[in-house]
Amino acid sequence: MDILGVRGYNLPAINDMEPIYEGKAKRLFTTDDPNVLRMEYKDSATAFNGVKKEDFENKGRFNKAITLIIYRMLEARGVATHLVDDVDDINLLVKKVSIIPLEVIVRNVAAGSFSKRMGVTEGTAFKKPIVEFSYKDDSLGDPFINDDYAREMGAATEEECLNIKKMALLVNDVLCEFFLKANLRLIDFKIELGRLAEDPTKIVLADEISPDTCRLWDVETGKKMDKDRFRQGLGGFMEAYADVLDRLQK
Ligand code: TMP
Ligand code: ASP
Repeated sequence: MDILGVRGYNLPAINDMEPIYEGKAKRLFTTDDPNVLRMEYKDSATAFNGVKKEDFENKGRFNKAITLIIYRMLEARGVATHLVDDVDDINLLVKKVSIIPLEVIVRNVAAGSFSKRMGVTEGTAFKKPIVEFSYKDDSLGDPFINDDYAREMGAATEEECLNIKKMALLVNDVLCEFFLKANLRLIDFKIELGRLAEDPTKIVLADEISPDTCRLWDVETGKKMDKDRFRQGLGGFMEAYADVLDRLQK
């Protein structure tokens, strides 16, 4: 039996365990600490609510490594995340949270569903960032909502929505500067937040921040370096992720 010990957490028979949750891109496993979970990044890529699906070698490795770099950097800047520790090439230890059913999207430049919905040409820069909420429910197709909907659906209180918006804008400022150093322009991104199992009054960043959840364009060439390469069938998908990781490691 393969026993992997990470800072006092025993993760026995890592390959034999049953996940307590399996999503489209990650799986969650228990550890011997009831407030800590192991998050495994899978190699699968999905788009259009899972309609398009394909496995890509090393995708889990790239997204785990990129998320780890970003979460460590955000923690150092005072943003609370669910990160506990690194485990191996595809696993992180994370604090157990109850996910707030909101996808919080920040947009700096028109692209994706904004361009489609509003008829605004992709690449049009906004004067100020836009924060928007989607209700996290695949069966409803993650509908676009506002904070009144969030309150009435019991997703988050008005005060929490305000705090979440502030947090999203802070993350945007930090990420824009961070990616720019890697010659990447942060077009937009999605974050998810969770209430800590050990103290539900505390809200932290959960889920991942990777080229799956951000639009990143090369500053000089405008080349798309994110999941749009898969969504739009542009090719060079994993090459772009490898390039992003490489730039962030420099
Ligand atoms: P959108 O333009 O398709 O609404 O996407 C906005 C941002 O959110 C983009 O960076 C991609 C990210 N995103 C996710 O992380 N998960 C999703 O399910 C969707 C639809 C978008
Ligand atoms: N994450 C969503 C899906 O898996 C959509 C997307 O990212 O485009 O279908």
